[in-house]
Amino acid sequence: MSEAKIYPVFDAIKATTHVTKEQYQAMYDRSLNDADAFWAEQAEEHLDWYQPWDTVSKYDFHTADIKWFAGGKLNVAYNCIDRHLPARAEQTAIIWEGDDPNASQHITYQTLHDKVCQLANAMRSLGIVKGDRVCLYMPMVPEAVYAMLACARIGAIHSVVFGGFSPDALRGRINDSECKLVITADEGLRGAKPIPLKKNVDKACEGTPSVEKILVCQVTGNKVGWQDDRDVWYHDLVDFQETSCEPEQMDAEDPLFILYTSGSTGTPKGVMHTTGGYLLTATMTFKYIFDYQEGEVYWCTADVGWITGHTYLTYGPLSNGATTVVFEGVPTYPDASRFWQVVDKHKVNIFYTAPTALRALMGAGDEYLETTSRASLRILGTVGEPINPEAWEWYFHKVGNEQCPIVDTWWQTETGGAMIVPLPGATPAKPGSASLPFFGVELALLDDEGNVLQGEASGNLAIPRSWPGQMRGVYNNPKRFHEAYFAMYPGYYFTGDGCRRDADGYYWITGRVDDVINVSGHRMGTAEVESALVLHEAVAEAAVVGYPHDIKGQGIYAYVTLMAGEDYSDALKAELIKHVRKEIGPVATPDVIHWAPGLPKTRSGKIMRRILRKIAEDDYGSLGDTSTLADPSVVDDLISRR
Ligand code: WT7
Repeated sequence: MSEAKIYPVFDAIKATTHVTKEQYQAMYDRSLNDADAFWAEQAEEHLDWYQPWDTVSKYDFHTADIKWFAGGKLNVAYNCIDRHLPARAEQTAIIWEGDDPNASQHITYQTLHDKVCQLANAMRSLGIVKGDRVCLYMPMVPEAVYAMLACARIGAIHSVVFGGFSPDALRGRINDSECKLVITADEGLRGAKPIPLKKNVDKACEGTPSVEKILVCQVTGNKVGWQDDRDVWYHDLVDFQETSCEPEQMDAEDPLFILYTSGSTGTPKGVMHTTGGYLLTATMTFKYIFDYQEGEVYWCTADVGWITGHTYLTYGPLSNGATTVVFEGVPTYPDASRFWQVVDKHKVNIFYTAPTALRALMGAGDEYLETTSRASLRILGTVGEPINPEAWEWYFHKVGNEQCPIVDTWWQTETGGAMIVPLPGATPAKPGSASLPFFGVELALLDDEGNVLQGEASGNLAIPRSWPGQMRGVYNNPKRFHEAYFAMYPGYYFTGDGCRRDADGYYWITGRVDDVINVSGHRMGTAEVESALVLHEAVAEAAVVGYPHDIKGQGIYAYVTLMAGEDYSDALKAELIKHVRKEIGPVATPDVIHWAPGLPKTRSGKIMRRILRKIAEDDYGSLGDTSTLADPSVVDDLISRR
């Protein structure tokens, strides 16, 4: 592989940055060599505690027991709001930018405090207490952020479900964690299109025995279905509450939230994060990675339904007293200049988005940049999947006018915060590489047998020591937690990613090595899409793989075998695509359905996905060894049906 270009650290940033190159090395070394002392200092510096912890860290990856700051007491909402009030009551906490380019709103820290307290009191009045689970199925409105913080304030555990998930997917998530309350909106609005959130919740809640109340925020004002004994309008209940609410003193290890994410097997896992360690990771990584400076406006384009929307839209920025932009709409409405219009309108200094969005905007043409200056931008970030160097260069030269360092942040729902990342004042960038580990992050590349690879190498990315933001469990399923992350390589947390380390020690993520695909930066288990497909009465068997997609990074490619007597028709293809959207949601829409009267299987009946991936990639030359197939002729048949 040819060595990539290197972009040195900008001289201009060196005087003000939180971390220079020398400081990074010293802090990183100390974070590994004197870890507990390092983390204790960071926890004291960055968070406000009611009571100090008994032990900084205690973990064992063989048993999957992980604790940070146990015995310490704090409240996340207090840290994200109250502690800023003496200095920042009138500073904007949230800039809300509506789907409609004429709609926006500035919300101060004082207002944020008042709104969150009102909602927290309202939730208490509905009987929600510490430890209860609350599902949020919300559009990108300020109330989504209020709801997360209101849960944190009273110690309820939120489970945010992305508004693009179907009623069935929502129901599964509500039931898995037995949520008592659902907070939603009448409808969401994306690109002038209404999203029927309440309708979806109604459908989901046909089969959710734990749900007692549904709190509905009025966003579009269109008529929705109503159950008087169950449904409550937000404005009827919340707006009349007191604007103060005593925060619950939480143990550092009390759960803060659950967020469902796809794995290589089974139903989505309820990734559980706790209070102290998660907030420390969110707070520190936000400050150092975006090199946040007093008064700056920061914009993360992620939806609150994903981990990025938790850590880098809500908790990280607000814990730092930053101004965070919440954007309701989509990058291409009214047209492909929207992101840049918003950057100019709100004088955004730090901008964080996904490679898939950049590729889509790059494809729309540079003329959409020309109507804007983007002169306020100082730092750019990306997340979600490897960024191809072409998109990186476009981001750097065109969007940032060669003035802004780019931070390519590698992390996962499970890691809570960014793990491999260049620091803008410290790390020269190589386009396409997430570069170097964050403080406290020790990385290992393992071969398939679990041997540690040294120096320049490619292998499976694993992590031998804990960090504060690490997930603490799969909700209600400790066994699955161990199996999914710690069983593969004993003593290590296994990420599921392949990775290369170059001669400079830079890390290059090469993508998932398990049966998880990354579609537009969203994680999708191939098994989940397969289960959805076989639920259809015409389908006998399905095998799903990822394939390279220009905009999405990976697309969803589904091989489908029909029941005997069913007709392999185009109409049925369309129906199956609709069926998957209904089962899981638009995020799981198959890009290709490939009819497969036979699937390539070994004699023991195992589907050979390697071959299916090659066919999906249009790469027949290197199908590899097909001699172990039970019936080699199915391969030619599949190719002929492409
Ligand atoms: C998977 C995690 C972390 C928030 C968004 C996705 C891939 C994520 C990068 C990056 C290369 C990346 C990995 C990872 N990924 N960021 N900067 N470079 N790959 O969270 O849904 O939990 O997915 O996304 O494959 O394992 P997620």
